Amino acid sequence: TTAALIGVPTDVGAGVRGASMGPEALRVAGLQTALEHQGLRVIDTGNLSGPANPCLPPQDGYRHLAENIAWNRSLYDATLAQLRLGHLPIMLGGDHCLAIGSISAVARHCRDTGRKLRVLWLDAHADFNTSALTPSGNVHGMPVACLCGFGPDGLTTLAGAAPAIAPHEVRQIGIRSVDAGEKRFVHEQGLDVYDMRAIDELGMRAVMERALDGMDDSTHLHVSFDVDFLDPSMAPGVGTTVRGGPDYREAHLCMEMIHGSGRLGSLDIVELNPALDVRNQTAEVAVDLVESLFGKSTLMRR
Ligand code: ARG
Ligand code: MN
Ligand code: MN
Ligand code: MN
Repeated sequence: TTAALIGVPTDVGAGVRGASMGPEALRVAGLQTALEHQGLRVIDTGNLSGPANPCLPPQDGYRHLAENIAWNRSLYDATLAQLRLGHLPIMLGGDHCLAIGSISAVARHCRDTGRKLRVLWLDAHADFNTSALTPSGNVHGMPVACLCGFGPDGLTTLAGAAPAIAPHEVRQIGIRSVDAGEKRFVHEQGLDVYDMRAIDELGMRAVMERALDGMDDSTHLHVSFDVDFLDPSMAPGVGTTVRGGPDYREAHLCMEMIHGSGRLGSLDIVELNPALDVRNQTAEVAVDLVESLFGKSTLMRR
């Protein structure tokens, strides 16, 4: 497998600045070497460029809509190009708005090649707000809704007129912060959510067995890894920490089981905010977890 790193230094979708420094922090933490140690060939395509963060208040329910659209158009093109080359794209975020562009491209590629799509959303948040529901106007709280067709044209039609994905293609893991209106909408649309209570009660193993169930060799699995999925005690370098996330071992098991499915086809690593980190430890934890995601194990198991 050839992995293509795509740096997406945006923070226009976030409430706090700094995620734009995420791509470099992941490189400094040794992401490329870690992937190479797992037997991948790695091409670092560098960083995309896009508009600066104007730091403005919301307009019609969105902060920085035009800037969010510009970043996502450019990422859509870059992701699709790598998929068409047969590469496994790895998006280095950047705030979570970028999943609109990356997953729209993955959905388009699946449609073009007759594959099924499964999206695994590892996050403290459901990111299912709309302009009417959002408490903040921050687009990083809206990508799942936009991908399902609920959002502004510029963000919902990157891959064509039809919604990029359907709610039943998504599995969310680690959720523990959902806004009031967003919660109703999650239920209304039937998103498959494994919240922290599910992880506490069933355990990470049973949760992941369910979340990965029903895939076959024609399934493309996209993992959207928001670093705030992790408990903030080990991952302080994010703008929207929420207490009570998966611990280090649970997070590794999650990654190991995704690897075990054999279906991983693309990955976002988002919301890392080096301005809030402690000696790059959050980037280092993210790289450790990515090693497990690509097959690192203590013993020779496979
Ligand atoms: N639900 C909150 C909002 O919509 C927080 C979203 C956080 N999203 C994220 N990708 N970190 O503003
Ligand atoms: Mn989040
Ligand atoms: Mn626990
Ligand atoms: Mn998120």
